Amino acid sequence: MFTIEAKRVLTPVTKLIVVQAPMVARKARPGQFVILRCTESGERIPLTIADYDREKGTITLVYQEVGKTTRLLGRMGVGDAILDLVGPLGMPAELPREGRVLCVGGGVGVAPVYPKAKAMHEMGVDVVSIIGARSADLLILEEEMRAVSTAVYVATDDGSRGHHGFVSDVIKQLLERGEQFDEIIAVGPILMMRACVEVTRPYGVKTWVSMNPIMVDGTGMCGACRLSVDGKTKFCCVDGPMFDGHAVDWAEAVRRSRIYLEEEKIAVDHMNCAEGGCRP
Ligand code: FAD
Ligand code: FES
Ligand code: MG
Repeated sequence: MFTIEAKRVLTPVTKLIVVQAPMVARKARPGQFVILRCTESGERIPLTIADYDREKGTITLVYQEVGKTTRLLGRMGVGDAILDLVGPLGMPAELPREGRVLCVGGGVGVAPVYPKAKAMHEMGVDVVSIIGARSADLLILEEEMRAVSTAVYVATDDGSRGHHGFVSDVIKQLLERGEQFDEIIAVGPILMMRACVEVTRPYGVKTWVSMNPIMVDGTGMCGACRLSVDGKTKFCCVDGPMFDGHAVDWAEAVRRSRIYLEEEKIAVDHMNCAEGGCRP
């Protein structure tokens, strides 16, 4: 169970794995995620189901190595098995079946956007996409996004590909020139999603975001993933992860995402130290 069947290095910091998980694959729908553990004493981390194949019984996960657990996962190869994995968790995304939708993915956020774009494309929705990253070598799933979109715009922070700047600048350009969208879906780092939402707010276009707070159990029991949406408390793992971005309390979400920065840094330092890379 949970054996890694295939692995692709997408960028120097992003990896894609195809994992054997027939029960999850059977029920997975776009927008849902899994929670997994790599080791017995390790923490649980949520990752979006980026794709699934019900016949083969596999799910695809795409992750960026940002800290201890994602680095541990990055070291696992084909044939290795993930210790445990639970899912599909969260509410499936409520996707429109017609109209024109702008899909925006920043960094590893392109992975969670892809299954939604693919599902909408298959239903006949006109999908326009914007994908972005810090630099050209960090862009992911461009080919896959092109296959399900009528147009794909690229943005890089350093200008090495496409628009020199943020995905939110490209949204602004499209809206300013009068492009019409029934909905916008924006997924990526929290500051990117907040910037996208501020750009679309004056235009009144419904903008869905996929929130990514710290999660522990993923079943609505621990409260770690608490968010305020429209003044009401929501648990991202059971009420989300998709929410109306114009209703999210972003200041609180940003503050809560940073609660464990010190501990996360210590965990990476310990990992480096155990491998002989102690800082003096
Ligand atoms: P750490 O150094 O421990 O943490 C780095 C940062 O990751 C933290 O500052 C915090 O913002 C976040 N983080 C840490 N622990 C958790 C946790 N238990 N739960 C959530 N966030 C945490 N990342 C991907 O690369 N690909 C995905 O498809 C993806 N999907 C996600 C779906 C959901 C619903 C959520 C909530 C998060 C998702 N993430 C995804 C983020 C991913 O869970 C974190 O990057 C990962 O937990 C970091 O763990 P770490 O130990 O490597 O890094
Ligand atoms: Fe515990 Fe959502 S992760 S309530
Ligand atoms: Mg961690």
